[in-house]
This record gives sequence, structure tokens and C-alpha cells, in this order.
Amino acid sequence: MKVLVIGGGGREHAIVDALSRSAQVEKIFCAPGNAGIARQAECVAIRETETERLRDFAVAEGVELTVVGPEAALAAGVVDVFRAAGLRIFGPTKAAARIESSKEFAKELMLRYGIPTAGFRAFSDYAEAAEYVRSRPLPAVLKYDGLAAGKGVVIAATQEEADAALRDMLLDDKFGAGRVVVEDFLTGPEFSFMCFVSGSRVVPMVLAQDHKRAFDGDEGPNTGGMGAYSPLPFVTPEDEAYALREVMQRTADAMVAEGCPFTGVLYGGLMKTPQGIKVIEFNARFGDPETEVVLPRLKSDLCEVFCAVADGRDVCVEWDDRAALGIVLASEGYPGAYGKGFPIGGLEGLDGVYHMGTKRDGDRIVTSGGRVLFVVGRGATLAEARAEALARVAKIDCPNLFHRTDIGHCALDDRQ
Ligand code: AMP
Ligand code: GLY
Repeated sequence: MKVLVIGGGGREHAIVDALSRSAQVEKIFCAPGNAGIARQAECVAIRETETERLRDFAVAEGVELTVVGPEAALAAGVVDVFRAAGLRIFGPTKAAARIESSKEFAKELMLRYGIPTAGFRAFSDYAEAAEYVRSRPLPAVLKYDGLAAGKGVVIAATQEEADAALRDMLLDDKFGAGRVVVEDFLTGPEFSFMCFVSGSRVVPMVLAQDHKRAFDGDEGPNTGGMGAYSPLPFVTPEDEAYALREVMQRTADAMVAEGCPFTGVLYGGLMKTPQGIKVIEFNARFGDPETEVVLPRLKSDLCEVFCAVADGRDVCVEWDDRAALGIVLASEGYPGAYGKGFPIGGLEGLDGVYHMGTKRDGDRIVTSGGRVLFVVGRGATLAEARAEALARVAKIDCPNLFHRTDIGHCALDDRQ
């Protein structure tokens, strides 16, 4: 089978890597891909949002399965375009992807169907929003309603901070004209629960946790994610069963009832609060970097899983017990401004490396993004997996990269 993967980061590298282990897969294309992906797939110079060009490419090459990585492609309607042409594609329609692209859609859905989440109200008027925040306890959680590249959430500790953020979002339209969801502040460890969903069929993946802050000790600015690991010892089997039943299954059923059945990966960003598990956000796709530690644990044939989900068939998915832990190597300055084009040495023959933002420059591989590499270690325990990941990181030679050394600390308890 010929397969096309849309996207060009670490998540897509992990998908391409897992697909390359499938006996059914004869050829993998990746659009646009990156320098690491190019070793396992043919990279195609089409951007992820060029939906018609992607469709025409799939038709011309006889691609039998397309897999969508990034949210931008979903929001651009790539699934609708492929389906209209009768092509098989793994991912939600634009209408179903609103569960990620519109915070208000997601919150209203949860409210209507009794899915546990933080209390909230939505506003388009600055004065009304500011008044509501004043009437509630601080900190205030303010979420711009739309895709804001992870920058649309502000946790304001003071009324002044909240006012400033509301002004940005509602008066100055910093991210575009839109509404703001004001949420109650919740506490507890966060974790990511991804499921393969096809209408009301929900097949869970193993759990993972991401680390959003740039520096060790969970300090510094928020990022797209600096590392991840799986499994999670602090989530009990009872918690997991509850989250599957009351959050993921209920949400899949709600989407069917709303007339926009979900197909693809439904990602629950969940929090284990003192009042039980609650939804912080949904994504309509594989998480990045969670995918890079979850898919290495998949024992089943990923191509078979994708085809079954896309076709609406039952599928059985098996997982490896061994832990996986991965560390992001990011460009100095990230998540702020950073330089590009620094050569990366030490990659030859090194296992467990997914490329997030690299490109080829002659015979060298150079940095080309904020997050550059994701280095995974495996082991019987998380401690072993981290030791292997750190040993691999030490072999990589690039002066412009930094990384965290404490990924998995919530599970490994090494800061107490
Ligand atoms: P989101 O983009 O909705 O996932 O929000 C980004 C981050 O903000 C989350 O990963 C949480 O750490 C934090 N956050 C979001 N909503 C809440 C909430 N209601 N209470 C506490 N923290 C939150
Ligand atoms: N790791 C969080 C996300 O993919 O949105």
C-alpha cells in the first residue's frame, strides 16, 4: 500500500517510523517532511494546508491511505477535500475538528453532555468579560477561542494581568476577532489520553505526559512541549477506566449525536484534580511530543489501525509494557527568537531520534526550527528509559541546542 503522511515534525516522524514497520506498507510519502523523515519516506514539497494539491498528489500517485498530523491541515478542511474525492483519509472533518479549533464549541459540548470540565463562561464583550473576572476568585483562566498556536491561554494571577490579556484578545484582536472563554482554575497533575475514534468506536492508547515549561523544575516560559514519557504511575487503572468511559467515550458519542461524528485521534488533555478527572482541552489529532513516546510502544500494525478507523471497522490494538521517555532538543532562545542553520553532528547510527525541525544542507543536517530533535529512550522502568535517552542526547553534537534533564520527574520523584 502507498501511504501519505501530512506534516513535517516529530509527530509525523514517529508516525512514518511506525508505518515503516508495517508489512502492508510498500511506500511512504510525507508532505512536507523533514531531514530525518527523508530517511524513511519520500518527502514531497507540498505544504500541509495546500489541500487541493495534496489531494491531486494522492490521486496521481495512487495513495490508498492518507494520515493527517497537524491541526492546521484539519482546520483547512483537508479531510473534507479528500473524502469528497472518494479518497481514504485518517483524521476528522473540519466540523468535527472544532472540538480543538473552537474552545467554546468544546466547552458547550461538555456542558450539554455532562463531560467533566472546569466551569466557564464565554464573552465577546471586553467590559462584560472583565466584570465577570472581577466577580470570581483569582487566578483567572482566559482562553482565546480559536487556534492561537498554543499562545491563546493566559492564567492571570491579578486583575491587572487579566484585564491586559482580555484587552489583547477582545479589544486589540491580537489573534484575530474572536471570543474568550473564562474558566475556573483547576489544580492537579495533567496527562494526555489519546484514543483512536471512529464514530462511537473508541480504542484507547497508552497514557503520556508532556512537559510544557522550557527549563528544569518546570520553570520558564510555556513551550509546545519539552519532553514526554509513558506510562504514568500516578494515573490508576480506575482513573483510566473513568476517563475512558466518562470523557472519551461520552465525547465520541456526543459528536455522533451532534451530527459530526469524529474519525481519527481524539486527544484528551486531562487533569487529575482533587474533585476527580476533568478535561482541560481536547485536540483533534495526535499530540506532539506525546506521539513520539506512545507509538514506539505500539505492538500492532499502525497501517491496519489507521485503515480500520478510516473505514469504520473494529480493531484490536496491543501495547508493549516497556516504558518510553523522550527529551526535546530545542534551539537556544526557544520559545522566543532563535537562530537556524546550525549543523548537527553525532546523528549517524544513533537510534531513538525523531526529527522535529531539521533540514538537509548539502551533506549536513542543520537546525531549522524551535524544537529540533526528540530523543527517546526505552527501558523496563522510566528511570532506565530516561538514562538511555540522556545517554543518546549526550552523543548529539550541536552548540545551539538545549534540553531538560528532568523529564519524568513527576513519576521519578527526583526533586523531593
Ligand atoms: P490549553 O491550551 O487549554 O491546554 O491550556 C494550556 C495550559 O494552561 C494547560 O496545559 C494547563 O496547564 C493550563 N490550564 C488550562 N486551563 C486550565 C484550568 N482551567 N485550570 C488550570 N490550568 C489550566
Ligand atoms: N503536546 C500538546 C499538543 O500536542 O497539543
